[in-house]
Amino acid sequence: MHTILLLGSGGREHAFAVRLSKSKHCSALYIAPGNAGTAACGQNVSLNPLDFDAVFDFVQSKQVTLVVVGPEEPLVKGIQDYLSSRGVLVVGPSQAGAMLEGSKAWAKEFMMRHGIPTATYREFTAANLDEGLNYIASHPLPIVLKADGLAAGKGVVICDERVTAQSELRDMLGGKFGHASDKVVVESFLKGIEFSVFAITDGKNYKILPEAKDYKRIGEQDTGLNTGGMGAVSPVPFVGEEMWRKVEERVIAPTVAGLQKERIDYRGFLFFGLIAVDGEPYVIEYNCRMGDPETEVVLLRLKNDLVKLCEACAMGRLGRTVIKTDSRSAATVMLVSGGYPGEYQKGKEINGLDKVKDSIVLHAGTREESGRVLSNGGRVLAVTSFGKDLSAALKKSYKNIRKIDFEGMYYRRDIGKDVIGNL
Ligand code: AMP
Ligand code: GLY
Repeated sequence: MHTILLLGSGGREHAFAVRLSKSKHCSALYIAPGNAGTAACGQNVSLNPLDFDAVFDFVQSKQVTLVVVGPEEPLVKGIQDYLSSRGVLVVGPSQAGAMLEGSKAWAKEFMMRHGIPTATYREFTAANLDEGLNYIASHPLPIVLKADGLAAGKGVVICDERVTAQSELRDMLGGKFGHASDKVVVESFLKGIEFSVFAITDGKNYKILPEAKDYKRIGEQDTGLNTGGMGAVSPVPFVGEEMWRKVEERVIAPTVAGLQKERIDYRGFLFFGLIAVDGEPYVIEYNCRMGDPETEVVLLRLKNDLVKLCEACAMGRLGRTVIKTDSRSAATVMLVSGGYPGEYQKGKEINGLDKVKDSIVLHAGTREESGRVLSNGGRVLAVTSFGKDLSAALKKSYKNIRKIDFEGMYYRRDIGKDVIGNL
């Protein structure tokens, strides 16, 4: 039995909360800070996940036995080290492990050390800006610039012209993303199909979870600005057996072996952002946590008891775990606030949630006020459905979306279309 504290407040955390709270091994679930959706799965507590002392005080006062960390920031700042050293069981990597996401340059060096396929690159700081400008001057186009540190998903810029890439490099090294761009990775552009693979690892053993594809751009047909993610589907039909074999052999296994070899404590989820180029997988990015909105489909397809799985991970006993996956397909469509990912308004009343049938509405950015559910972020709700195939799952989500509304609500109508053809 576990008393669990789940850190985070998005759709990913609502999906975790649903699955954790349904386990017979969960005696109590607290979510910090949570949202209007997670409040139905446990008790929301107004704690800042970055205030480690406050988190530890809470853990002690409620005798929490397992902490599950949703977002990357507390991990990159070392919450696992802080809590583990005080005897708390945590799902989430140590600060050293979280470097896979916390520093793009570190992740690239890690991949080089372990022969993991990724785009060729160089890293630059203000001290060798001129070298960087020269590197760009003779580099094929497009060219990709990445701020080294966490930049809330905005730190990647793809340039079609060398002069824009050069001025972007100057801006980034000049502090465009604060200290996150003190160092910049400049890499080759890879052309192919992107997909995401997730694993849970205890640092020695790993288990592969269902794969997913997310839709990052705000506009249909993948146009416009990047967002946190506008929808996701699982499975991804184009990831065939041959690709799976290559992903496991060339990416997943050497990553976990590399962490072990470097004696890095990694007990948590690993997210591989991949791109298939002419049938060969390359790593675009690592994340030290689950994806959002991918979790809203991946965790729902996972049939294992999530508390047992998390416990095995945190205790270093994943070896005997067998992952069981729902054979049905799952799709999620994100409903966002008008204006997102630019400026948007919060506090809009959401209507129609009670009319939804046969879909699961996961809350991404909501809060409750005197019995009403209000929008409280750019991404507001993730409408997830199962179906015998992706087309059936998407139909259910879109049907239910028509019953929900809040002022300014926007969503993409083409989630999954590229993988299933026209609905
Ligand atoms: P990231 O923040 O690392 O997830 O990057 C954001 C997006 O930029 C990715 O999802 C890709 O679509 C794109 N991207 C990043 N690196 C590359 C690359 N080397 N080649 C092509 N696209 C890339
Ligand atoms: N959906 C992409 C991410 O969570 O980073």
